Amino acid sequence: MNTVTVSASKTYDILIGSGLLPQLGEQVKKLGKAKKICVVSETTVFPLYGKAVTESLENAGFSVVSFVFPAGEESKNGSVFLELLNFLAKSGLTRSDIIVALGGGVTGDLAGFAAASYLRGIRFVQVPTTLLAAVDSSVGGKTAIDLPAGKNLAGAFCQPSLVLCDTDTLNSLPADIFRDGCAEVIKYGILYDPVLFAHLEEKGLDFDREAVITRCVELKRDVVMEDEFDTGARMKLNLGHTIGHGVEAKSHFTLSHGKSVAIGIAIVSRACHCPDTPRILSILRQFGLPTTTEDSAEEILSYALSDKKRSGDLVKLILPNTIGD
Ligand code: NAD
Ligand code: GLY
Repeated sequence: MNTVTVSASKTYDILIGSGLLPQLGEQVKKLGKAKKICVVSETTVFPLYGKAVTESLENAGFSVVSFVFPAGEESKNGSVFLELLNFLAKSGLTRSDIIVALGGGVTGDLAGFAAASYLRGIRFVQVPTTLLAAVDSSVGGKTAIDLPAGKNLAGAFCQPSLVLCDTDTLNSLPADIFRDGCAEVIKYGILYDPVLFAHLEEKGLDFDREAVITRCVELKRDVVMEDEFDTGARMKLNLGHTIGHGVEAKSHFTLSHGKSVAIGIAIVSRACHCPDTPRILSILRQFGLPTTTEDSAEEILSYALSDKKRSGDLVKLILPNTIGD
């Protein structure tokens, strides 16, 4: 097991390794004070891992309730959010109790925002079960729900108290969803780490999961510690995302986030004449990710201009100089 510690407005550990789920209860117990746990999960993940998580928490002496919502981005909305808050209240969770988010980025974002809001803030633990959640959304405290006007438009910065990533849970991921997470992993290599990038080139989809997730989490830890509230260095994590969000929105979200980001990375690399563009395009293809779109520049621009990361009239684009920079 690897441990990465984040020291931001809250200090917490991220545990990464195989076979960790049965240890969840004891790890949560170390956080102190809590009596009741609400496991928040969804209809695909809970049947797979809900029993192991619940048993581990009960064996550690917690009283456990669970809130299970329909899987998918469509559930990351205001009504499910309110349903969850009402469930927490009805279940009698107090300020010292804890929410455990068991699932991918949708679950983590929804449960995290509920934790930030319920009783003006209770603690929560992230148990990521997608590669994207393991390397990105479970770390750094961004929580949100979608509004009819757009994705992630209501939310809060709220750091988790613990992240427990059991890499075995990734074994049940459909290949396509695993590949989506790979776009974010490749992104970390381009932004910060030529050694990570070369490892991915060499191993392809058979990369060392524990080592690669740990490296990505270390890189994200460094960014979050430098710029927790996303006013400077953290914006680099948006490499490929502004154009990616344009392509994703233009497709009415039928194109996945990972594939859209891959297209965004490819477009900005080509447009800024990054000398490493051939390696960037080649690795995206190697991982089965797209590098082109049929959408016109004008169409993408009109969607990209509605990106929430715009400030005033400015849209900031992150451009690669070379791999690692
Ligand atoms: P997701 O949570 O919807 O999971 C993707 C799919 O995989 C779902 O169908 C889910 O049911 C299934 N799944 C999850 N774990 C599984 C497992 N172990 N085995 C089998 N199936 C499994 O989406 P995601 O791709 O994990 O995350 C995308 C979300 O994350 C978006 O809402 C995005 O806005 C958000 N996000 C947040 C941040 C952040 O910093 N907070 C960063 C990036 C993305
Ligand atoms: N996923 C981008 C960030 O956490 O800032």
